[in-house]
Amino acid sequence: MTPLGAHLVRRIRIEGPLSIADFMTEALTHPTLGYYRTAAPVGAGGDFITAPEISQMFGELIGLCCLDLWERMGRPAPVRLVELGPGRGALIGDALRATRIRPEFHAAATLHLVEINPALRTDQAAAVAPYRDRLGGCAWHDGFAAVPPGPLLLVANEFFDALPVHQFARQGGAWRERVVGLDPSGERLAFALAAPGPAAALLPSAPATAPEGSVIEISPAGIALADRIARRIADAGGGALVIDYGHAGEPIWSLQAVRRQKRERDPLAEPGLVDLSAQVDFARLVEAAGQAGAATQGPVSQRDFLEALGIRARAAALAERARGDQAKAIEAALHRLLDPAEMGTLFQAIAFARPGGPDPAGFAIR
Ligand SMILES: C[S@@+](CC[C@H](N)C(=O)[O-])C[C@H]1O[C@@H](n2cnc3c(N)ncnc32)[C@H](O)[C@@H]1O
Repeated sequence: MTPLGAHLVRRIRIEGPLSIADFMTEALTHPTLGYYRTAAPVGAGGDFITAPEISQMFGELIGLCCLDLWERMGRPAPVRLVELGPGRGALIGDALRATRIRPEFHAAATLHLVEINPALRTDQAAAVAPYRDRLGGCAWHDGFAAVPPGPLLLVANEFFDALPVHQFARQGGAWRERVVGLDPSGERLAFALAAPGPAAALLPSAPATAPEGSVIEISPAGIALADRIARRIADAGGGALVIDYGHAGEPIWSLQAVRRQKRERDPLAEPGLVDLSAQVDFARLVEAAGQAGAATQGPVSQRDFLEALGIRARAAALAERARGDQAKAIEAALHRLLDPAEMGTLFQAIAFARPGGPDPAGFAIR
């Protein structure tokens, strides 16, 4: 039992079962024991490797996508360049290196990094250090709400999958909520089904007649964040890119625990020590952003998105200058990012923009 597991057992004894969302919130963001407060999760030595950790091309292309949008917006200053959950800062470092060709963009951009992990904030500060003096500003925040007003260029790669989800199952002709309670010994965490809590209001009306055994996963936190970002963009202009692993409204329970790049059998076994994530429901995010007044694009597969941004040309340019084994490494990274058996189609991208304003590149797929 981990220290956080012991804390959760005590909490459940006093308060009763937790929703999956409350369990995820505690496991990931508990102020002292939560996974994202304490762990060094990202990278080859961590629990998972993300696209910007696989290749510099990922962050470079996203940086250039932001620069291109800023140019077509009429070069507003200041513009809020925001990354949600920047990990070790690989994406933002590569984005800033690629966009230093336009010093005016760096001068107009105030950088806002939304991050709750102190060790990762230190890594991010090192990644942006070479560019920091030329930026319009640079600040860290605990949440998106703290980003100051103004036009936004926002990027979130593998951030929404860390937001808490509720899980529901159809049983006995009614929806029940999957919760975390205690096993018969009263000592260990165990899944159970209970009467649904307030999040049941988010269940779509159509599945009221869903067959027995149907399941559904809903992230009110993700929907609320998409709503807030989209409102900002509809009001002040800009664009948001959300890239993640996910689906378009499929009825699944996808909560998973990952440690050292392997999926754990029991997501309840080691809270605080394992990464927990759930597939992003892109259909819900697009719906929420549209209702908040933004224009939306996607989802498109990560492969289509990166190809539309020119990743193959970038890989060829890098390969031309490559020495020794570098060319092979570039080819391997390209394969990992684009191949459907790797990240190519499981990962998808969506964008929000201001209606009537310019759209982020990467979505006009042939
Ligand atoms: C899966 S990692 C992705 C890292 C990075 N975007 C990448 O692609 O390498 C999730 C990131 O979001 C941060 N994070 C997770 N939950 C958060 C929260 N509720 N508020 C702010 N940051 C959070 C983590 O510390 C980490 O930097």
